[in-house]
Amino acid sequence: MADFLGDSAIQTTGAGWIASAPKPVILLGLGGVGQALLRQIVAKRAFHAEQYDLRIRFLALCDSRGAVVEPDDGFSDRQLTEILQLKEQGRALTNHPLGGIQEDLAAIVDIVGQPGAVVIDCTASDATVEALFLALNRGYQVVLANKKPLTIEQAVYDQLSRSRAAADAPRTLGQTRWETTVGAGLPVIATLNRLVSSGDEIERIAGAFSGTLGYLMTGLEEGRAFSETVREAFRLGYTEPDPRDDLGGIDVARKALILARGMGWRMEMDQVQVSGLYPERLADLSVDNFLAELPSLDERYRQEAARAASEGKVLRYTATLAEGACCVGLTAVAKESPLGRLSGTDNLVELYSCWYSPNPLVIQGRGAGVEATAAGVLSDVMELR
Ligand SMILES: NC(=O)c1ccc[n+]([C@@H]2O[C@H](COP(=O)([O-])OP(=O)(O)OC[C@H]3O[C@@H](n4cnc5c(N)ncnc54)[C@H](OP(=O)(O)O)[C@@H]3O)[C@@H](O)[C@H]2O)c1
Repeated sequence: MADFLGDSAIQTTGAGWIASAPKPVILLGLGGVGQALLRQIVAKRAFHAEQYDLRIRFLALCDSRGAVVEPDDGFSDRQLTEILQLKEQGRALTNHPLGGIQEDLAAIVDIVGQPGAVVIDCTASDATVEALFLALNRGYQVVLANKKPLTIEQAVYDQLSRSRAAADAPRTLGQTRWETTVGAGLPVIATLNRLVSSGDEIERIAGAFSGTLGYLMTGLEEGRAFSETVREAFRLGYTEPDPRDDLGGIDVARKALILARGMGWRMEMDQVQVSGLYPERLADLSVDNFLAELPSLDERYRQEAARAASEGKVLRYTATLAEGACCVGLTAVAKESPLGRLSGTDNLVELYSCWYSPNPLVIQGRGAGVEATAAGVLSDVMELR
């Protein structure tokens, strides 16, 4: 493993060409995705340097409580690996010898930021917004795996995406990338941006953006009881610790809103029509009691699946964007459509446009997973160079 010292000087290679300066990175969030990103950057350092002239230099790494800031002689890969091991053990960065308490991410970006920096948001919090604004105001770049900053007020999305910071400003892609916020490593946002910027008109987007809910839909299609598939997904760790976080559809709604805004729609979260898969009466139960109550929903979903099957359709939990409306919920789709042929935990998005009609442009594949997501984040960093 190459040991890297954070030297920002231009380096001359053996071949005689001038290597570009290291890319300074501030990483916010060291959970599953942040750790995978750190692991991939260290493991692929020689590959990226040799093949892409990319040398990543960490200025700071932050979790919810602490931060580790680059020492004077830069982080070595050995130190970065130690930080990784500490987080893999579930410990806080404040426990690292170089660690300190962080109470203000914007202050960290302010202090350690430098020209050419990229701030990477791998948190699951909207507390990063001020730090991201500061970064963009300083001319730094921003990469988000975190959906939350892009799904609060439209004005925040506008400023972060720079798609149209002022009403009459031209739309540009700007210095921010958020490819992994929808479909993880799948190229959904890039494809949408390419269609939109070419002048193609998107007529409709329909997609399945939750591997967990996809798994449940396949179970219903196979004639299994709703309660049985939810409990199995819970046992296998496919759901969040509280399965209602998946079944409520909010995460899918956030992805739908990001797509809607990517199409140029001006829309707030409360305008997304979300129908969850459990009734309000089960909302306040403990997780155990919720799981115990699930059989009371079995007959309803059995009937819905049977009705769909009698029309040659299958049930999918989809986000549909068409004619200005954004709807998230259970839908019966034609069995022979791309969404209807979907099975298991894959994500799929159908994009219908002027040029992709009547057959849509379809993107399908694994839509979650920390390694694929981290690789997508790294691709965003490379694209921004
Ligand atoms: N996992 C996937 O497959 C996937 C796919 C696509 C997108 N994403 C998105 O990627 C993001 C990260 O996902 P994940 O699975 O890595 O989540 P995670 O395991 O929950 O990790 C979140 C990280 O953010 C840190 N954090 C939380 N609040 C913070 C704050 N205010 N300031 C600084 N750090 C803060 C946490 O700190 P502590 O370590 O101190 O708790 C933790 O390190 C999420 O927004 C998720 O929606 C995930």
